[in-house]
Amino acid sequence: MSVATSKFTAEFRCTHEGCGATYPLGEIIYTCKKDGELLEVSHDMEKLSSRSGADWKELFDARIGSYRFPFNSGIWSKREWVLPEIETQNIVSSGEGNTHLYDTGRFAKELGLDGLFVKQCGVSHTGSFKDLGMTVLVSQVNQMIADGKDIKAVACASTGDTSAALASYAAKAGIPSVIFLPANKVSAAQLIQPVSNGSLVLALDTDFDGCMNIVKQVTEKQGIYLANSMNSLRIEGQKTIAIEIVQQLGWEVPDWIVIPGGNLGNVSALGKGFEMMFDLGLIDRLPRICLAQAKNASPLYDAFLRDYSDFKPVTANKTLASAIQIGDPVSVKKAIKILKKFNGVVEIASEAELSDAAHRADRYGLYNCPHTGVALAATFKLIEAGTIRKKDKVVVISTAHGLKFTEFKVQYHNSQIPETDSRYINKIVECDANISKVLEILDKRL
Ligand SMILES: Cc1ncc(COP(=O)(O)O)c(C=O)c1O
Ligand SMILES: [Zn+2]
Repeated sequence: MSVATSKFTAEFRCTHEGCGATYPLGEIIYTCKKDGELLEVSHDMEKLSSRSGADWKELFDARIGSYRFPFNSGIWSKREWVLPEIETQNIVSSGEGNTHLYDTGRFAKELGLDGLFVKQCGVSHTGSFKDLGMTVLVSQVNQMIADGKDIKAVACASTGDTSAALASYAAKAGIPSVIFLPANKVSAAQLIQPVSNGSLVLALDTDFDGCMNIVKQVTEKQGIYLANSMNSLRIEGQKTIAIEIVQQLGWEVPDWIVIPGGNLGNVSALGKGFEMMFDLGLIDRLPRICLAQAKNASPLYDAFLRDYSDFKPVTANKTLASAIQIGDPVSVKKAIKILKKFNGVVEIASEAELSDAAHRADRYGLYNCPHTGVALAATFKLIEAGTIRKKDKVVVISTAHGLKFTEFKVQYHNSQIPETDSRYINKIVECDANISKVLEILDKRL
C-alpha cells in the first residue's frame, strides 16, 4: 500500500498558547524567538485527516513486519506522522521501534488486573527508548547537511542513554558527536557506548542539570546542533510508542500507562502520540497516565501534590535510577499539560521500592532496569491505593535494557541495597562438584 508522503507537511510551532510562531523544520532552532518557549513539531492535521482513522490503521498494520527500508523501522513505518517531508535517502535508521509488548500473564492475574504489559523500549539498537527519537533527529540533521546547512557536529548532555543513541546514529551517518556526561553518575555499560562509537566524550564534574547548562551554551554557537529532547524532533520519534502499544493491543486503548520520567520529554511524547491518534480517529478514548519518579529526584511529584500550581526545580539526589536523576526537567510544561489532559497522576518510588519492584517482576521472566523498577513500583502503589482498579489493563513503559544496569542487579542479589525485601533476592548457591551434595540441595529447594 503506498501513500504519497510528500502531500503531508510539518513545521516547528511554539508551545506557548497564543504565540502561534512557526519555523521550518530545516531551521536550526530549539526555542521560540519571541518568548523562549519550547517548540513542537506541528503536523498539517487537515491533510492527515484526508485519510480516515480506519485507513491509517490499515496502512500501519500493512507495514508491520516489512523488511523494506525504511518501513522495517517502527518509526519510519509511520513516517507521514513523523517527518513527512524527509527524503528517504537521508533517513538514518537502525531498525528501532517494533519492540515487543511483554504480556506478564500470571503476574497480572496475581495482581488482579485484566492485563499487565511491559513495553520493552529498551530492546533496541543501543538499549533504550532514546533510539526512537534519535533516528528522527539525526535523519533531519542529515537532511539539513545535504541541503547545505553548516553543521559541524551534534551534541547532547546525557544521563547515559541519550549519549549512547546519539553516538551510534551520528556515527552511522558520519556526523561527529560531542557528549557531556556527569562524571561518575552513569553505568559503565552506558559510558562505554559513546566511547566505542568514537564520540568526543567529556565527563564533567557536575550533575545532569549542570551538563545541560553547558550543552545549551555550546550549541548557541554556530555549527553544533543540540540533540537533547528540548529539541522537539526527538519527541516525534518517541511518540510512536503510543501508536505501537495500541496497535499491539489490537487497536484497543489500555486503561493506564505508567512511564518513568526525568527530563519529561518521553511522557510528553507519549501524550502526543495518543492525541494524534485521537484527533485522527484511530481511537475514541485516552488512557490515564502515571508519571513515575524516583523519590530522590521528584520535583514533578512535589508540584503534583500542589495541583501543579508552582513547579520548583530541585537538586536531584543520587538514585539507582541514574538516568532519571534530574532536578530541573526541560519539558516540564509540556508534561504538565499532558498529565492534566490524561487525568494523570505522579507517583514516586524509594530506592528500596524501585529495587524490589524491578526484581519482583523479574521473577516473571522480565529483566528490568531501575527506571522500569520505578514505573513498576508506582504501578504496585497505585493498585494498592485503588487508583488503578482491579480489572484495569495496564501498560508499563520499560525505558532501558536491564543489561545496561548489571551493577544494579548484582548489588540487589548480593543484598547490598538497604531495606529491600529478601523474598526477591536470589543467592547463588556454592556447592562441591559432588552428586550427593547437589541432590541434597535440590531436595531442600524444590
Ligand atoms: C532509561 C531511562 N528511563 C527514563 C528516562 C526519562 O525520560 P525523560 O527524560 O524523557 O523523562 C530516561 C532519560 O532521561 C532514561 O534514559
Ligand atoms: Zn512563542
